[in-house]
Parts: sequence; C-alpha cells; structure tokens
Amino acid sequence: MDISWQELEREMRRCRKCDLRKSRTNYVIGDGDTHAKILFVGEAPGKNEDIQGKPFVGRSGKFLDELLLSVGLSRKDVYITNIIKCRPPSNRDPKPEEKQKCSAFLLKQLEIIKPKLIVSLGRHSMEYFFGLFGMRSQKIGDCHGKIFKIDCPVFTGNFMVLYHPAVAIYNSNRKAELLKDFSRLKEFK
Ligand code: URA
Repeated sequence: MDISWQELEREMRRCRKCDLRKSRTNYVIGDGDTHAKILFVGEAPGKNEDIQGKPFVGRSGKFLDELLLSVGLSRKDVYITNIIKCRPPSNRDPKPEEKQKCSAFLLKQLEIIKPKLIVSLGRHSMEYFFGLFGMRSQKIGDCHGKIFKIDCPVFTGNFMVLYHPAVAIYNSNRKAELLKDFSRLKEFK
C-alpha cells in the first residue's frame, strides 16, 4: 500500500533504528517540493542542519543556493535531502549499518517524489547510488556531470553525480566545475 508523505514523516520522527537519534537535536528529513523533478541527496546533516532541522543550511548550503540560482531554480523547485537523517556526533562518517537502516527512508521518499533526476552530492552519496543501481564504481573525478540513464526496480530515470558543494568553498577549480555541471540541470526543469 502506498504511504503518504505525512505518514512517512511520522515514521521518520518515531525512528529508533539506531543510536544517532540520541545525540541529534533535530531530524533532518528534507526541504523543498515533494513533487519536484530534481532530487538532491547529500550524505548527512552537519551542525547547522542539526540545529535548524533543514539540509544544507551552512556554508555549503549557501553555495548550493547559489548553484540553484545559476540555473534559475530555488530550493522550492527541487527536493533536498541526505542519506542519513540524524547528524552523526562530531560529524564523523556514518557507519555502514546506519546508512543501511536510514536509507530505507530515502527509498520511500524516492517512491513518493518520483523525480526525473537524482543528483548525488559528494562521494559518499555517489557510492550509495552506484550500489543501489548496481553500477560499476567510478571515481568522482571521472564521472561528475555525466547523466546516467537508470532503469532498475527502485528507480527509472536519470542520475547525475556532482562534487559536494563544500569542496568548492576553498577550491576555485571545483567551483567552476560545479557551475558547469549544474548548467546541465536546465534540461530537467
Ligand atoms: N553536507 C551534507 O552532505 N548534507 C547536509 O545537509 C549538509 C552538509
């Protein structure tokens, strides 16, 4: 039976599947239009996201907003979430079992949103989707900005890998690459 967005949010807020809930301030479920054509997926909330309960609100989030604006989009036009919904303590990498348990929610979000395009932000999110889609693993430097056609049980549509916006903060080459890759999003507006 299909589950509604409200039911899914209730389920996420009641989640006790791992210990991350014990140290987090807020669940960071996502932000934007739950019927968006483009779904952005990062790794996990950081400190600012944990405090505000919204994904990508720190420095990398400000840059993500700029990138969206560069193609005439705003947060309201897309949906932004993470694989992990609770901040790992001291921003440590999420453990494989935390990713495995929490990504069940991402799959449900995917089922409801039905985006045309999934965009992974950063290497960890990219690797998660390569696994999910049964794709051969690749280096982010070799595949960022390419559009992959996906047809698998959990998703039919397009998939694009992007560098994490945080890498562009101190690296102007990465910033230029991200801006160039982002221009391809116009095809999916
Ligand atoms: N980095 C992420 O991967 N996600 C966020 O929400 C913030 C920073």
